[in-house]
Amino acid sequence: MNNKKLANPWRASGLKTWLIAFAVVTLLTFPQGCGRGGGGGDKFVIGFSQANKAEPWRTWMDDTLMREAAKHPGLEVRYADAQQDNSKQVADVENFLRQRVDLLIISPNEAKPLTGVVRRVYESGIPVIILDRSIEGDTYTTFIGADNREIGRAAGEYAAELLGRKGNVVELKGLPGSPPAIDRSAGFREAIARFPDIKIVQDPVADWLRDKGREQAEAALRANEQIDLIYAHNDPMGMGAYLAATAMNRASGLKIIGIDGLPGPEGGAKAVLDGKLSATFLYPNCGKEAIETAVKIMNKQEVPKRLTLQTSRITKDNAAQFVGQ
Ligand code: FRU
Repeated sequence: MNNKKLANPWRASGLKTWLIAFAVVTLLTFPQGCGRGGGGGDKFVIGFSQANKAEPWRTWMDDTLMREAAKHPGLEVRYADAQQDNSKQVADVENFLRQRVDLLIISPNEAKPLTGVVRRVYESGIPVIILDRSIEGDTYTTFIGADNREIGRAAGEYAAELLGRKGNVVELKGLPGSPPAIDRSAGFREAIARFPDIKIVQDPVADWLRDKGREQAEAALRANEQIDLIYAHNDPMGMGAYLAATAMNRASGLKIIGIDGLPGPEGGAKAVLDGKLSATFLYPNCGKEAIETAVKIMNKQEVPKRLTLQTSRITKDNAAQFVGQ
């Protein structure tokens, strides 16, 4: 027996030529990102990486997105909940990348820690739709969300109106690494800068959470005898502030502005109708637009780099129409 020949199977069987030919055919037949991939059979598989599913606004987004997706039998949505944990979200996205999903939808917990993995997905040829919280740079297909700076500005202008251009404000901030918190703060400050008698006396971080909002509002109310308005970057923190102020007997005359304006009996619109919040600003949940955009991408249609959704100011006068939506 010729051992030397057997030790080299490449040459022995022409295997190398066959494998190269097979690889070329495979690459031509299934270009990256266009396969009905990820083991989903004939379906177009979407990996949906959500920052968390504990916050009510996220549940609203999930429900809307899933309902919209259900209208398209050709779509399959695989869902991963990052539980507000950046490293879990990185692992979730890596998992979708390994599965070779056809498209990634992601609402990042924080921008910086998620930027690298999103770039890897995008550069591997998988289209990426980012919702609500952006990443750094522009390595994605489309961003869908509202203009948070504009919302912050509108909140600042309304605060000035409610205060008669004078008063002490506490700002309750969202998670510092999530861009909406930065933009909502910048817009608000820009608007109130025109009114020198409006002062932000404290601006604690409450990470978007109701309980933290309550704790921070309580501390701020304790430390400052006169608080006229609390501007919370979202309604749950605003409701936390309301609970703190009520428990401390400081709610009378105190104005609270939030953002989100969720429908339903527990939502911000109802809290405005009930007089717990003075106002809120609708923050559209992006779910419907995410699937509409995914379907366009699936059908190889052009999509814009950015889709900006509209907000509305919700006050007692118009709250009823937002409660039932
Ligand atoms: C939910 C949430 C919303 C807020 C948005 C900002 O996670 O905190 O309440 O408007 O995220 O990204």
